[in-house]
Amino acid sequence: MLNFKTIEWLASDRKVRLIEQTKLPGSLEYIVTDDYRVMCDAIKRLAVRGAPAIGVAGAYGVVIGALSLPRDDFSHFARELRRIMNELRSTRPTAVNLFWAIDRMERVLAANHEIAPTIQKLIAEAVSIHQEDEAMCRRIGEHGAELLHDGMTILTHCNAGSLATGGMGTALAPIYVAQEQGKKIKVFADETRPLLQGARLTSWELKQNGVDVTLICDNMAAVVMKKGWVNAVIVGSDRIAANGDVANKIGTYTVALLAKHHDVPFYVAAPTSTVDPKITSGDQIPIEERPDYEVTGFGATRTAPEGIKTFNPAFDVTPHELVAAIITELGVHRPPYDFSFLTESKQHQK
Ligand code: MRU
Repeated sequence: MLNFKTIEWLASDRKVRLIEQTKLPGSLEYIVTDDYRVMCDAIKRLAVRGAPAIGVAGAYGVVIGALSLPRDDFSHFARELRRIMNELRSTRPTAVNLFWAIDRMERVLAANHEIAPTIQKLIAEAVSIHQEDEAMCRRIGEHGAELLHDGMTILTHCNAGSLATGGMGTALAPIYVAQEQGKKIKVFADETRPLLQGARLTSWELKQNGVDVTLICDNMAAVVMKKGWVNAVIVGSDRIAANGDVANKIGTYTVALLAKHHDVPFYVAAPTSTVDPKITSGDQIPIEERPDYEVTGFGATRTAPEGIKTFNPAFDVTPHELVAAIITELGVHRPPYDFSFLTESKQHQK
């Protein structure tokens, strides 16, 4: 399965290659760059998106930033690289994986004192962040697949698949692994307004991978649950608080409420790099607000009157009471949640 790579380090060219996700599903195009500003722009524009993929992109952004700097004075190099790291950090606020990955890169910088070896170690660190993410996705898939039985139908929101990670995805990984195990799993994909990650990306990648997927508008989720057509919901996450509150794509909270009402288990799948053990509840998660044109139209087509007021939060927080289980690479966590044990040193160790 998976005949595409969302993000790739081209070692011999010292460049990064990313799928330009804004062009999907119309065309499969790539961005190839050695310019960290192009990477910042790609993250802001959602050309690369999804919390783990943003983390990997941030780490490679640091690498290409480091490669672009003059190599005569280490303290100048370190100062400039920290500025680049801060530029990368400022691209999107909610997915903690971005900060987690760049903090890892900054620890490499802090532990070294010569430019050439530092660059080699930064490259190695970014590659291992990427490889670890791939491995975590597989383990999330294996743990999550234990919850899935032959013939089940899963509803998912946004895209938490291979397009959102360095591997096979988070929310979609249990579905892919269950499929590998010979279980027949069907999926309802919410279209996910305003940017349609479900319609453009989830339905595209599931179809590419031979999964039976049915696309629905966000406002149809209640009906398919009421009809008894959904056995479980699985979504990804951008940040999980120590108490199990979960930030994910706007609309996730609505889906969780619907699932509660219809007695459908609501699962969250995410690597421990998405857990922010420093924050105690979801109220402290910074929620990105995006431009009004995402709500007043789609692409070049305007769908709302000129001058209309809008509110466009990119994410919402689902309270932990609504979450039946959180699937990480460590296993299936059940309530009561307490992720405070995931301190920096324990979190997703190599
Ligand atoms: O705005 P996006 O497309 O980056 O939002 C993505 C999501 O909300 C995903 O569900 C989340 O990042 C998990 S991806 C494995």
